[in-house]
Formats: sequence, structure tokens, C-alpha cells
Amino acid sequence: MSFGPIMRFTVDGLHIELAPLTKEAMSEFISLEHGGGMQRNTINRYLGRQAAPVLEDEHEWFEKVRKEESSFVWGIWLVEAEKRTLIGNSALVGVGNEGHVPFIRQATSGSMIFRKEYWGRGIASAAHKARTWYAFEHLGLHRVKSAVIQANKGSRKALERAGYSFVYTERNEQYGEGRLHNMDCLECLNPLDLFWSQWWHGDRPTKAALAARVRTREALAWAEQHVELT
Ligand SMILES: CC(C)(COP(=O)(O)OP(=O)(O)OC[C@H]1O[C@@H](n2cnc3c(N)ncnc32)[C@H](O)[C@@H]1OP(=O)(O)O)[C@@H](O)C(=O)NCCC(=O)NCCS
Repeated sequence: MSFGPIMRFTVDGLHIELAPLTKEAMSEFISLEHGGGMQRNTINRYLGRQAAPVLEDEHEWFEKVRKEESSFVWGIWLVEAEKRTLIGNSALVGVGNEGHVPFIRQATSGSMIFRKEYWGRGIASAAHKARTWYAFEHLGLHRVKSAVIQANKGSRKALERAGYSFVYTERNEQYGEGRLHNMDCLECLNPLDLFWSQWWHGDRPTKAALAARVRTREALAWAEQHVELT
């Protein structure tokens, strides 16, 4: 664990690789040449962090991730001919049996594209679908959780496209731009019969969960067709 295996797909004409980070590429997270990345408020404002990281922080985080047994972290790499450029990351963290039932396995997901010029091209939506597919078809997780600040409309949309649905709201989770922000907690349930039946074990699934199951199945079908797990 720690880093996830290579997955490749194409979106909006861009060749994207989800692959392990490298220590050498960690400077891309804060590259001034490319706008400053995580040193910019625009990138960080819904991530609950205010301080701007420097290269040492990025290297420290890399080492931390490398040793984290309960994480699957991917760099989001843009592949052009022989060149690979790191533009973001995607992760499943806290992978395991969070509750007291050893066979119910969950994780929390997170993602970021620190090169703003690549926003709105469908990269996060596709990367979420690939990650969801990996989580359910290859790791056998029952549930992936995520949380998104309500103002972060793009993030919410990308998560819903991959099959996530709303569970509850945490009020006043952040303060910024002169106001308090609420955070929506979402979940994505494994739609495969084996996991779905264990999760609901005779309880009636909610309407929202049933609708999300359809979207999650669509996301898995997309990934099955478009994602190359090397
Ligand atoms: C959130 C983030 C990962 C989305 O990545 P992305 O690759 O731009 O997402 P997608 O291109 O798949 O876009 C998803 C949808 O949201 C829409 N969208 C993007 N920004 C939006 C905004 N500010 N308001 C409304 N919709 C928005 C996109 O247009 C797209 O919808 P469409 O295909 O119908 O046009 C990216 O903006 C980011 O890294 N932000 C900073 C870090 C962050 O907030 N991470 C998530 C924490 S929960």
C-alpha cells in the first residue's frame, strides 16, 4: 500500500496516468513556474488549510505517505509524448475496517488538481471513476466517504458523477472569504451484490442510495471500458 498502482485513461484528449508520486516531482505541488500550486489560496481554500507549504513540507508529506500502510495515493500525471507532468493527486486514506466489524471495509477519498489551467476538463470526474472502480472491484471496499465544502461546486459535481451521494451536513466547518462554510459529507457504496447486500443486510436502502447505485454502476462500467490498469 501507500501508493496505488498505475491506471491510465484519456479525457478531453488528455492522456492521464494515475501513478505513484516521485520525490523529484514533489516540487510541482508548489511550482512558482506554474502559478504556485498549493501556495495559492485558490487551490487551498476548500481544503481546510491556510498555510502555504514549502518544498520541505512536500518532501515530508511524501515520506509520510510512502510509509502509510492504510493509504492508496496516486499522483495525477499528464502524459505528453515522453514527458510526464504531475498536476494533482487522488487518494483513498484510512483503508480498513473503521468500525468494529472486521469484514466491513471503508476508506475516505480526497483529490486535488493544483494546476488550475487543467480544471473543468473532466480530469477529476474521470479520476474519481477510476479510483471508485479500483476501490470496489479491486480492493473490495464496502464504502468510500468524502466531504466537500458546499461552495466547492465543481468538486461536488465530480464526486456525484462517480456515484457519491449526500449523507449529512456538518455546519460551520470552515471560515473564509468573510463567511462560514458548511461541509457536505458524502458516501459511495459498493454496488456489487456481494457488498451491497452485506452493507444493507435486510434494511431497506434509501431512495438516494438506490439512485446513487445506478450512477456508481455507470461509473464502474465507464472505468471497465476506459481505464487501463497496467
Ligand atoms: C475540485 C477539483 C478536483 C475538480 O477538478 P476538475 O478536473 O476541474 O473537475 P471536472 O472537470 O471533472 O469538473 C466537474 C464538473 O464541475 C464543474 N465545475 C467546475 N468548477 C465549477 C464551479 N466553480 N462551479 C460550478 N461548477 C463547476 C465542471 O464544469 C464540471 O461540470 P461539467 O462537466 O458539467 O462542465 C479541482 O477544481 C481542484 O483540484 N480544486 C482544488 C482542490 C479541491 O477543492 N479539491 C476537492 C476537495 S473536496
